[in-house]
Amino acid sequence: MRRKLAAGNWKMNGTSATLTEISALQKLLPANAPEVLICPPAPLLFRAAQIAANTGIRIGAQDCHAETSGAYTGDTSAAMIVDTGAAHVIIGHSERRTAHAEQDADIAAKARTAWAAGLNTIICIGEDLETRENGTTLDLIATQLAGSIPDAASAENTIIAYEPIWAIGTGKIPTLPQIIEVHDFIRATLTTRFDADTANAIPLLYGGSVKPDNAAQIFTAENVDGALVGGASLKASDFAPIVTALAQS
Ligand code: PGA
Repeated sequence: MRRKLAAGNWKMNGTSATLTEISALQKLLPANAPEVLICPPAPLLFRAAQIAANTGIRIGAQDCHAETSGAYTGDTSAAMIVDTGAAHVIIGHSERRTAHAEQDADIAAKARTAWAAGLNTIICIGEDLETRENGTTLDLIATQLAGSIPDAASAENTIIAYEPIWAIGTGKIPTLPQIIEVHDFIRATLTTRFDADTANAIPLLYGGSVKPDNAAQIFTAENVDGALVGGASLKASDFAPIVTALAQS
């Protein structure tokens, strides 16, 4: 059975006071909870990891630099993330691709660096509205998979998040058949590139306006193994029902 994962991406939200949501979340988790990950902003990682220790909740970062160290003002290295106690890092989120002009090759380089430091990567892909409307979503997904995911990807170091850009923070989600089509395509593409065990075991997350009231339906898709959640991960009372829906799927 594939790992199930509910990951929360706090983006540039929260201060140390917000970290109480981690303990609040733990209290609301079902007994059979899947893997739960919270990705706070970098300055909160260390304290978040301390608070999450022994709760079963893991902590991840939202980005790392492709170089291991050096003159990169404002950036965070993979080793620094490991040092905080975090175990995961999101790579290639569409907000990084758009606002920081990250290309597939940059994302692949970051993934290699993160793996070398021992981090598990959540590599994000997904189409913009124009691509969705002109019918070339699967072509773009194929290009992003080929370019963003290095050959050394494994079920131990990689999780893939499919996040249609037009669904992020908008309250709009694709139809279930659209989600199924892309997730099945990702799985099939992995099968052509990696051995069957690896292709089948890499968790595939859906992301983009996942909320307590739509999560259960999204999780009915066979190749949806969890969710990458933005806005609804900020409050334990919103995120916990999503985790519960995943546990019951
Ligand atoms: P959202 O964000 O759940 O607020 O749409 C998802 C994401 O960007 O990871």
